[in-house]
Amino acid sequence: MSDDVPELSADTLAALAAFRAEQEASLTNENASISEDWQLSQFWYNDDTSRKLVREGITTALKNVQNSEIPYIGCVSSPTLVRFFHETEEYKSGKFHLRLFEYDDRFGLKFPDEFVHFDYKSPTVLPPELVGKFDVIIADPPFLAAECLIKTAHSVRLLGKPDVKIVLCTGAIMEDYAARLLAMHRTEFEPKHANNLANDFACFANYQTFTL
Ligand SMILES: C[S@@+](CC[C@H](N)C(=O)[O-])C[C@H]1O[C@@H](n2cnc3c(N)ncnc32)[C@H](O)[C@@H]1O
Repeated sequence: MSDDVPELSADTLAALAAFRAEQEASLTNENASISEDWQLSQFWYNDDTSRKLVREGITTALKNVQNSEIPYIGCVSSPTLVRFFHETEEYKSGKFHLRLFEYDDRFGLKFPDEFVHFDYKSPTVLPPELVGKFDVIIADPPFLAAECLIKTAHSVRLLGKPDVKIVLCTGAIMEDYAARLLAMHRTEFEPKHANNLANDFACFANYQTFTL
């Protein structure tokens, strides 16, 4: 071995192998969480917030169901929720369809049945068969910027049925934009994260929520 190349000890190599195995397992094990990538503005909900958002999504979808149609629920940039939807009896008994619109392809490995690659910067690039399908959408755009909310709102509108019920979790400072873009009001519910966030976070809806 050349003098210039540092050699890793057996312990370090073993630790690296264990780390890699853990990362791979987190992609395929439904219950293992995927590490937050702050470059992608990833801040995961805590379990209680996830369960409350999921309960609202299911209650709303089933209350508004027309005839015997199975409703569609969409998660836009809110990948944590999928695992919690999977936990519910309603999911297990096929009471709703679920899709995840998300930029981070790691979630495609974790949730292959629900995952749709989505980039808010290309708001109209959506699978044509899903346009106009959704009864309920829960969105949590990555950035607290008008451009991000305007484009995400455009996708949400395209994906939703004309009377789509929308829940938006984002910074409280986005309240005016949420009202103007999606006719939303602030709810009393305060979403919480697994790792505390400095920002004042809020939950908005374009309808009278049932459980939040
Ligand atoms: C603030 S986090 C919301 C996550 C949510 N709190 C959860 O626990 O599921 C923003 C989300 O937007 C996603 N994201 C990042 N860049 C994106 C892009 N260009 N288009 C769409 N989503 C993006 C991130 O991967 C992340 O899932």
